[in-house]
Amino acid sequence: MFTACATFVLIIAGALVTSNDAGLSVPDWPTTFGSIYKMPHMVGGVEWEHGHRMVAEFVGLLTIILAIWTWRTEGRRWMRILGVAALGTVIAQGILGGMTVLFYLPPAVSSTHAALAQTFFCITVVIALFTGRRRIEEQPRVEFDTRRPSLVTLTWLSIFVLYVQLILGAMFRHRGLGWWPHVVHAAVVTVVLSWTAIRALSQYSRIEAVRKPAITMLSLMMAQLCLGFTAFLTRVAWGHNAVQPELPMVISTVAHVAVGALLLATAVVLAIQVWRHVPVAFEERIPTREQNPVAA
Ligand code: HEM
Ligand code: HEM
Repeated sequence: MFTACATFVLIIAGALVTSNDAGLSVPDWPTTFGSIYKMPHMVGGVEWEHGHRMVAEFVGLLTIILAIWTWRTEGRRWMRILGVAALGTVIAQGILGGMTVLFYLPPAVSSTHAALAQTFFCITVVIALFTGRRRIEEQPRVEFDTRRPSLVTLTWLSIFVLYVQLILGAMFRHRGLGWWPHVVHAAVVTVVLSWTAIRALSQYSRIEAVRKPAITMLSLMMAQLCLGFTAFLTRVAWGHNAVQPELPMVISTVAHVAVGALLLATAVVLAIQVWRHVPVAFEERIPTREQNPVAA
């Protein structure tokens, strides 16, 4: 949980670099102004850029500890693999961060760095969820799902549309794409997430493990839509002539990135809880006597 929380802080720190246009304030990597250990003067954009690197190093260290700890103490093989996957992802993320500096912030690299950041955050949240005491000790309350599309399918679809939205948002933010694909796709996200949350709440609200993430997802989605409109106003409608990053734009865009990360992670948690508590009922797929005379 601590690594997941630290990663959330890191996402905010990273978003502050982008929103403050500070990506190239430190022009070299892996060194900072030619040195590995010397602290630079934390002034102007260097404060954001070097600060982000320091938080990233801390999270990197936490991830190394987490991977080794998981490898040594976990009984579940796939959890050990997840620990190693987290380590691989954070290393790739660090390299992408360095690459984007060395190649002067190409949109493709910066957008991949933005998307992988949230993927890594989701991995840390999943590790926290699966190592939680409640998860290990509690017997799941199971209800079979006979409806189509199943709630499991809807939760996977939610993750998919959110991921597309993240890529479109990151591409726009890093000047690789216009704003309209992201804003148009927000309508798709709204429909799919509302459908998923309403289905979960109307059918399975008795299951706390499903009800809580469904309510959280719906609330975060509404907050995210409001923040999206504010980010649009401050960045696109009013901000395109700004000579330097202005505070309302910085606050609204950073909040939009942060809530986006929370929303994606909540959708992942909901999918895992639904997978456990509301599995798909396959009985109806077994042919009846009329359909299968051989069995009869
Ligand atoms: C290791 C974990 C790391 C994570 C989770 C992370 C996360 C992030 C996030 C979320 C952003 C904001 C993206 C956006 O708002 O669209 C960002 C931006 C940035 N990060 Fe990282 N980062 C990490 C490591 C690094 C490292 C080691 C560097 C080394 C230089 C770095 C350099 C940058 C730069 C330059 C930007 C601004 C890119 C731009 O404005 O185009 N990051 N990071
Ligand atoms: C629930 C729906 C939405 C989600 C999940 C979402 C998510 C995101 C994410 C994750 C980013 C940043 C990607 C990165 O890390 O670089 C972003 C950027 C952005 N989004 Fe959204 N968004 C949503 C709806 C909207 C709406 C409705 C609008 C506008 C009407 C909007 C406007 C923007 C703008 C302007 C940016 C770029 C900000 C910048 O350039 O600094 N978003 N969105």
